[in-house]
Amino acid sequence: MLASGTGSTLRAVIEAAREESYGARVVGVITDVADAGALDIARSEGIPTAVVRLADFEDRDQWDAAIARTLATFDPELVLLAGFMRILGAPVLERFGGRILNTHPALLPAYPGAHGVRDALAGGAKITGCTVILVDAGVDTGPIVAQAAIEVLDDDNEDTLHARIKEVERGLVARTLGRLAREGWTVTGRSVRIGAAIPTTEESS
Ligand code: GAR
Repeated sequence: MLASGTGSTLRAVIEAAREESYGARVVGVITDVADAGALDIARSEGIPTAVVRLADFEDRDQWDAAIARTLATFDPELVLLAGFMRILGAPVLERFGGRILNTHPALLPAYPGAHGVRDALAGGAKITGCTVILVDAGVDTGPIVAQAAIEVLDDDNEDTLHARIKEVERGLVARTLGRLAREGWTVTGRSVRIGAAIPTTEESS
């Protein structure tokens, strides 16, 4: 799992994974921020951690390569970006592409980028929400796996709205990750279906 922030999403997945039937567990946490709350949560759970800060590398490519190398040491089946606030480059996508999930605090394709909550408010949205996507090379452009809607209240500010989104988002991420791990998934064009592939007419006849 990769995280830059407080780690409430990480905590939700850890809690869900306490159920034996969940089908997944967190094998490692990487942050790009040395004092990210996610690190404390992982350490207190005995989960291996690594800090890979962009500032410690000569350029973005070297940082990307270090993220890919560090991820590989954890040998994950799925990679979750849980509040990871940087774009991943080719070294990570080449190695883990197709099995990287991101969670975003807006109803994609509306309001992508680093300020999904702020932008939804500024855009006058009455409904926003959260989206789990499979990561591709773009910014929040990958195929949508799951979404949940949240009403924007007249007196909402960025903090109150984000807090309500996160309450729903934590559950959505934990449920979705568990289902993907247990049931697998197929991608057809931009459509993601959780579970075994449905046979086509020719295959089933
Ligand atoms: C979540 O709302 C997530 O959607 C958002 O950061 C928060 C992480 O919270 N991610 C992005 O905005 C990515 N563009 P957390 O640190 O408490 O898990």
